[in-house]
Amino acid sequence: MIYLDNAATSYPKPKSVYEKMLSCMKKYCANPGRGGHKMALDSGRAILKTRQIVADFFNIKNPMQIVFTKNATEAINIAIKGVLKEGDHVIITCMEHNSVIRPLKSMEKDKNIQLSIVKGNEFGEIDAEDIKKSLKENTKLIVSTLSSNVNGIIMPVKEMGTIAKEKGILFLVDASQGAGCIKIDVNKLNIDMMAFPGHKGLLGPQGTGALYVKEGIKITPMMTGGTGSSSESFMQPEIFPDILESGTLNTPGIVGLGCGIEFINSIGIENINKSKHRLVKIIYEELAELKNVKLYSKSDILKNSGSIAFNFDGVESTEVSYVLDKVYNVASRAGLHCSPLAHNTLKTINTGTVRLSVGCFNNFEEIKMTLKFLREISESINNV
Ligand SMILES: Cc1ncc(COP(=O)(O)O)c(C=O)c1O
Repeated sequence: MIYLDNAATSYPKPKSVYEKMLSCMKKYCANPGRGGHKMALDSGRAILKTRQIVADFFNIKNPMQIVFTKNATEAINIAIKGVLKEGDHVIITCMEHNSVIRPLKSMEKDKNIQLSIVKGNEFGEIDAEDIKKSLKENTKLIVSTLSSNVNGIIMPVKEMGTIAKEKGILFLVDASQGAGCIKIDVNKLNIDMMAFPGHKGLLGPQGTGALYVKEGIKITPMMTGGTGSSSESFMQPEIFPDILESGTLNTPGIVGLGCGIEFINSIGIENINKSKHRLVKIIYEELAELKNVKLYSKSDILKNSGSIAFNFDGVESTEVSYVLDKVYNVASRAGLHCSPLAHNTLKTINTGTVRLSVGCFNNFEEIKMTLKFLREISESINNV
């Protein structure tokens, strides 16, 4: 199969990810932080090692400020529900995923928070000045995706971070799309909290993700329970990461996540970015030549994290994706991609879009082959 659904989850993973996860499962997968015996200590050390790898990767000074979660959604929920109080105002962009919209919409209903959604242009590009215009006295939080999972458009995160810092407002970045190919320095970008999955661009397994919380931010845990620390107390420890990390962690998954990031470091994030963009550009340019195709993405390296969204005139996106899979053995994704807001922006809410999302293991031949198939589909539509 030609796998072009890397925005949903990356495939394949580096060989080292499979090997180290299996080795962890077979050799030392005891409960990390919950015992003094050798295997428990080895598990604990493996987790600590990944914490350090993640911290180095995003220039996070204190690795203890990284909280492991089961995916990006959990990390986003912990952040949003942990810092917002009744009556707070939040600003988000028009390209957010349901994992941002739904927690906020439920808080709007139940906790009386206020929500402003900043509009973008026809690609969902935001002018950071519009964030400024949406600020209110009670604005507590700005949330932005690093890049859209629908069309890959990259957000002006640096500018938003500067505004948030100037105004003393918290800034949460959903780095689900872009972590692993876009260089992120949480300090340079003034990011207060950052949620990211381990299973997409970071090349780790499913069931992994994390939340970074800047030191000093007051956050209420969404979940409490056993942490292996301060066990004499009935109350949740206040130290990081224990405050937000109750229950046994996914040790093999976290080991795999660490290996995924080490693999990215060994290749060089810039090289992964370049390779993805070479392929994105080819897809964009060849699709743009087809008369019955409408493109919803940009191909510029600074404007696209690796996804191309398109439709054939008058054809359901799901039908195209179905044919790609069943007839041509190409994995793509169609529909609304859990992002109705983004599809409202792109004016594709009724049709959805077909998404081809490239990963660091895709090559030129796979892309050329997929484009050949898409030309065949285009001609077959023309002949109907
Ligand atoms: C922009 C964005 N945010 C959040 C998520 C949710 O990620 P997860 O499935 O790891 O919770 C996704 C998943 O596709 C995404 O693309």
